Parts: sequence; structure tokens; C-alpha cells
Amino acid sequence: MTIHIGAAKEDIAETVLLPGDPYRAKWAAETFLQDVRLVNEVRGMLGFTGTWKGHRVTIQGSGMGMPSLSIYVNELIKDYDAQTLIRIGSCGGMQDKVNLRDVIVAMTASSLSTPSRGFFRELNFAPCADWDLLHAAVQAAEAKGTPTHVGGIYSSDVFYDERPDLNEQMVRHGVLAVEMEAAELYNLAARHGRRALAVLTVSDHLLTGEAMPADQRERSFGDMVEIALEAAFA
Ligand code: ADE
Repeated sequence: MTIHIGAAKEDIAETVLLPGDPYRAKWAAETFLQDVRLVNEVRGMLGFTGTWKGHRVTIQGSGMGMPSLSIYVNELIKDYDAQTLIRIGSCGGMQDKVNLRDVIVAMTASSLSTPSRGFFRELNFAPCADWDLLHAAVQAAEAKGTPTHVGGIYSSDVFYDERPDLNEQMVRHGVLAVEMEAAELYNLAARHGRRALAVLTVSDHLLTGEAMPADQRERSFGDMVEIALEAAFA
């Protein structure tokens, strides 16, 4: 047990999927895993362990934003020895070619700041995904026929960003989408020699102002979960 995760060490699998929303963790575990058990409910940040095609998997909520994700990922790596950590979540599209419901596989994640900023001092470290996971995720997405984009994303500290000039620069530099967690996941995985990836579903769009209706979310999020699971065990 750790401060934020109430599971015994053996209750957490080597492979962990990390949705921001604890209820999405519940939904994904109940929908895609077999022999599912609730392994954490500290602060309502639900975590479940089960099996997928015979492989043990934990799906643990990370909360919103990098400071929250950092707590769970630090404990999962240092106390539970998690080896493969895949963020599954939503993002806001930032390019014309990116549509609602598309999947984004994040090669790298820009940020203004992360919880690791003090660590790197003047260095602008480039957080990047694990190549094997990224490659396998793209192959899985292609096999499913899911419209998918691979490239850089932006991990923001604020959901309600009132600096359109910054978003304009992101768009100009080809950033595909904005979310709030991946850069720190990649930093921590790099520091501790673990594999990490973010597979995201476009739930809203910064250029068009569109947002996915709640009743359409489940099916699209399901593709993302399956892509993440296929990539983890490729
Ligand atoms: N996650 C989903 N949509 C987002 C947005 N527009 N900004 C930041 N994070 C998001």
C-alpha cells in the first residue's frame, strides 16, 4: 500500500492503463477485462486489475493534470514496479485534419511546465513515447481501421486556456491535440526506464468548437482502449 493506492503489491499488474477519469477506469475494466477486481478506491481514484487475453492488466485512474498523474505514476513505478504505462484519455483537436472521434497516438508531448521542470533546470527535455508501444499502437489502429494521427501533442496546465496566441503557435507547429497529462508520464517513464505511451480520443476541437455528444463517447473510447491493450501485449 502507498499513500494514494490501497492495493497490495501483487494486486497491481506490470501493465497499467491510465485514464484520467476513475469512472472510465471502471467502464474500461468491466468492458474489456476478465476476472476484474477493484484494487484501489483511495480518494475515489478507482483502480481495477483483471486479465485481457490471458495477460494481467491494471486500469487505474490518474486524475486530471500532471500533478495528479505524477502521484499515481510515481507510486506505480516505485512501489508497484509497473513496467508499461499507457495513458488512455480524451484530447482537444488542434489541426484541420483531426476530427472528432479520431485517435491520436502521441509521439512526443510539449508543455510550458511539468512537475519535472525543476529536475531539468535549463534543459528543454523532449519527452517521447516508447517506440515499440507506439509502433504497435499504430499497427493495431490500422488493423481496426480507426482514423488515427501520430505526432506531437501539447500537455497543458489549464483546460480553460485564455491565451489564443499560444494555441496559434501550437497549431502552426503541427501539434495535433491538447490534453493535460502525457508529458509528465513520458518524463517519469524516461527517468525510471519504463515504457510509456498516450493513446487519446478527440473529444472536442479547438478550431471548430465542436464537442462529442456524451452518447457517442463510449464507442470511440472503446477503440482507444483496445488499441492500448493490443499495443501493450504486441
Ligand atoms: N482534454 C480534452 N479536451 C481538452 C482540451 N480542450 N484541453 C485540454 N485538455 C483536454
